[in-house]
Amino acid sequence: MPLLYAWHMAVVGSVLIDGEPFAPEDASISVFDIGFQRGYGCFEAMRSYGGSIFRLEAHLERLGRSAAKLHMPEPDRETIGVWCRSVADAAGESVVRAFISGGTDAKAPGTNSRIVVFAEAVPPMPEALALQTSVAPWHTDGEWFELTGAKGLSYGFNLVASLVAVQAGFDDALLIGRRGHVLEGPTFSIGWVSDGIFHTPAIEIGILESITRRAVIDAAEGIGMTVREGIYNVEAVMDADEVVAMSTVREILPVTRIDLETYRPGVATSRLREAFTALVERELGL
Ligand SMILES: Cc1ncc(COP(=O)(O)O)c(C=O)c1O
Repeated sequence: MPLLYAWHMAVVGSVLIDGEPFAPEDASISVFDIGFQRGYGCFEAMRSYGGSIFRLEAHLERLGRSAAKLHMPEPDRETIGVWCRSVADAAGESVVRAFISGGTDAKAPGTNSRIVVFAEAVPPMPEALALQTSVAPWHTDGEWFELTGAKGLSYGFNLVASLVAVQAGFDDALLIGRRGHVLEGPTFSIGWVSDGIFHTPAIEIGILESITRRAVIDAAEGIGMTVREGIYNVEAVMDADEVVAMSTVREILPVTRIDLETYRPGVATSRLREAFTALVERELGL
């Protein structure tokens, strides 16, 4: 699977810019936007199951929190929600993306800011992932600061970590903090099962408040699986029985390799995947 794919090829239907529909090849915003010039802005990726967006409210809330942390004007969540629903409705099964650009005045964020919403085809997924550990010195690794947890547009460091891992023959990277803590993937959360207990790094370590991770925890607890959120050294995941990657786009994907360690997806992974699917179907009334 190519790591990067041409977005405008994958778009299903129109691209909404401030609610106005454009053909994907005609959709553009200003080169003077600080979203482009400085990576300033925020975004969300949501999953539409047959036209219904999973945990839309949680995504809109996170978008609002990201904007607040970035000192951007409060986004009109209701209107963005309407746009997200409309592209999902037209596209059906898809990934819905919403971006709020910083605008054209770095001293007054939000000036001429553009809100871009579109749906794209769910990309093909590999059966499982091979991950390469990658130290992420830019990550706060437990040191809280104002922007911790903001889903801002500045994803360059994470993207390079993915590219480097792919160049080394892996599917993606697994980010490790400066102090040796296991964090998350560049665009996914990580979890693992050891002795029947589902472990995942705690939000306090400074990882993104992943909506899939939250749903998987809910699903695991719903089937009586013990869940532990904590601060873990990389050895904890290395020594695990089963490992999974979690994200809106990937849902729950088994991890079959981290560096030289290999893992076999087993009963726990199957139970988690089944419970997650059941939770999505229940919440969306599918
Ligand atoms: C750094 C990072 N962690 C975790 C995730 C997973 O978050 P979610 O489940 O909300 O898609 C993402 C998603 O893009 C991410 O970028």
